[in-house]
Amino acid sequence: MMRNRIILEAPAKINLTLDVIGKRDDGYHELETVMHQINLFDRIALEIWDQGIELATSSSEIPVGEDNLAYKAALAILKKCGPGAGIKIFIEKNIPIGAGLAGGSTDAAAVLAGINYLYGSRFSCQDLLELAAAVGSDVPFCLPEHYTEHYSGVLMSPGATAIARGRGEILEPLPAKTIPFILLVKPGFQLSTAQIYAEFGLQAVNQSPDTRSFLQAWYNNDIISIATYMGNVLESVSIRKKPEIGIVKARMKEQGAINALMSGSGPSVFGIFPDEATARQAFTEFKQDYREVYLVSSYGRGD
Ligand code: C5P
Repeated sequence: MMRNRIILEAPAKINLTLDVIGKRDDGYHELETVMHQINLFDRIALEIWDQGIELATSSSEIPVGEDNLAYKAALAILKKCGPGAGIKIFIEKNIPIGAGLAGGSTDAAAVLAGINYLYGSRFSCQDLLELAAAVGSDVPFCLPEHYTEHYSGVLMSPGATAIARGRGEILEPLPAKTIPFILLVKPGFQLSTAQIYAEFGLQAVNQSPDTRSFLQAWYNNDIISIATYMGNVLESVSIRKKPEIGIVKARMKEQGAINALMSGSGPSVFGIFPDEATARQAFTEFKQDYREVYLVSSYGRGD
């Protein structure tokens, strides 16, 4: 059925591994990172209209013009839809901002997928992936490969796990798995991805993640080894700038996490817990000191 309005869920991601392989001539870093969508999501409402782009949001902290990746994405795809194509966007912001959770990127990806849907699915997956990569390095991963109308007018994707290489835009999907008990804590400050990468020096890396062993664990569905082999080379840079990240990580383990890691360039830290009771107890503890604390699991059905 052709619609003129639609709502999409735009899930956050965590990086289960993040390795920097080298610095590129274009200034970006060559990555190898396992990304995984979690069930903390923004809701994006889209409505066709004929007067350009209008963006509104539930958050006073994000821009509503071209500085917003969702706006940029809309601009890029509408240009290809031809004259007179426009969109009204409303972002219900639930994902913490400047957190290493791809909140801006996932909104942008949802806007690309949603506009394509509303305008008659005229672009191929490849077209959308190219538009996504031009908007930002994390946007292709966030782009739903396929989605279904879960209930009337709401689009959901099955949720993604992938190993991303290149700038982050070369994706190899991994089999879906559900990690049931993930505790996420966002300290009360933001970090700039560009700044963390700028301060990252390859010589400073002393602990690259063992991505091979991580993947082995992933394929074996071995949650203890999955948690054990997680690693992120940007952690030392972000912790040097903001030692609180290291404190949250240690505290997460003291509270019973199998392991804990910073996501992306930070400052969010997530812990993988062995059972619900331990995770809930840790949630309560962290809630005493932090506003942005979430008990989540993998996004989608995991199948
Ligand atoms: O691609 P995006 O605009 O999201 O990246 C934000 C910043 O993060 C870039 O300007 C760059 O400084 C840094 N970055 C990087 N290497 C990557 C991805 C991002 O250096 N693979």
